Amino acid sequence: MSKIDFNDRMLSLGLARVSEAAAMASARLIGRGDEKAADQAAVNAMRDQLNMLDIAGTVVIGEGERDEAPMLFIGEEVGTGNGPEVDIALDPLEGTTLTAKDMPNALTVIAMGPRGSMLHAPDVYMDKLAIGPGYRDGVVTMDMSPAERVNALAAARGCSTDDITVCVLERPRHEEMIAELRTTGCAIRLITDGDVAGVIHCAEAEKTGIDMYMGSGGAPEGVLAAAALKCMGGQMFGRLTFRNDDERGRAKKAGITNLDRVYTRDDMVTQDVIFAATGVTDGSILPGIRREPGYLTTETILMRSKTGSVRRMNYRNPR
Ligand code: FBP
Repeated sequence: MSKIDFNDRMLSLGLARVSEAAAMASARLIGRGDEKAADQAAVNAMRDQLNMLDIAGTVVIGEGERDEAPMLFIGEEVGTGNGPEVDIALDPLEGTTLTAKDMPNALTVIAMGPRGSMLHAPDVYMDKLAIGPGYRDGVVTMDMSPAERVNALAAARGCSTDDITVCVLERPRHEEMIAELRTTGCAIRLITDGDVAGVIHCAEAEKTGIDMYMGSGGAPEGVLAAAALKCMGGQMFGRLTFRNDDERGRAKKAGITNLDRVYTRDDMVTQDVIFAATGVTDGSILPGIRREPGYLTTETILMRSKTGSVRRMNYRNPR
C-alpha cells in the first residue's frame, strides 16, 4: 500500500473529539478524591475515541510501559489502521491530583505528528526551561543559572526583574532554585501539579501573567509541552535527569544514547504536529467542564503548527 500523507487539517477535528471525550468522562470524578478512578475514566474514553480515527497510530508518549499500563501504553497501536502512520503523545488526565481535589489547571492532552516525529521520552524527570514567542533565539539557556535567566529575560523585554513572573512546580527539589530566583525580585507562580499547563502559560504571557517556566517534571509531559509550544510559538529546552541505573536503562531502551543532551523544542517534536487540550478544572488557559442541568460543556484548544492556528471550541453535550 502506498504511504498516506499526514493530513493534519482533517485529522485535527478528530483529535479535538478525543480530547473532549476524555474530559467528559472525568467530569463526574472532579473533586471526588479518587485520582485513579478519574485517570481510568479519561484513559478509557480517550482510547475508545482514538480507535475510531482513520489512522495507523502508535502511542509514543502514553500511560507507561506495557507491563505497567494495560491501556494506551507506549507502543500500543491505535486507530482503524486505515490512514496515515502517525505518532501520538497523550496524557488523558494531566493533573490527576488536581482533578481529585478540584484544583485549577487539570487538562486532557493529546498531540499527533507523522511517524518518527516525536522524542520517545522515557518515564524519568526532565529539567525544563520555556519562554513565550517574540524573543531572539537563545535569550535564555539551560547553561544559565536561574537568576541569570531572569536577568536575561528582563533585559530582552526591557523591564525590571520585578516585572518577570516565573512558574515553578512546588517541590522540595526546587527549593534551592526558588531561593535563587527570589534574590532577583521576580515573582514566582508556584503550582502543585500540571507542568504542561505551566509551560503553555508562557505562550500567552499577557493573559496568564507568566513569562518563563523552569524546573524538573515528567519527561513525557515535556514532549507534550514542546508540541504545544511548536504550535503557539516560544522556546523550550529539556534535559533528561536520572536518579539511578534503572532510569538510565529506561532511556537506553527508548533509544537514547546521549544522556546529557539538551533537547530544543524542535528536537523533541521534529515535524508538523497537531495538539488538542480540553479543560477539566478551571485554569488560566482553559475553563473547566461546566455542569448545567441536562448538559456538560467543555472548552478545547486545538492547534496546528503548520499554520500556527489556534482554535478554541465549545462543546455542549446532553448527559
Ligand atoms: P499526573 O497527572 O500524572 O499526576 O502528573 C502531574 C505532574 O504534576 C506533571 O504535570 C509533572 O510533570 C509531574 O507530575 C511531576 O512529577 P512529580 O509529582 O513526581 O514531581
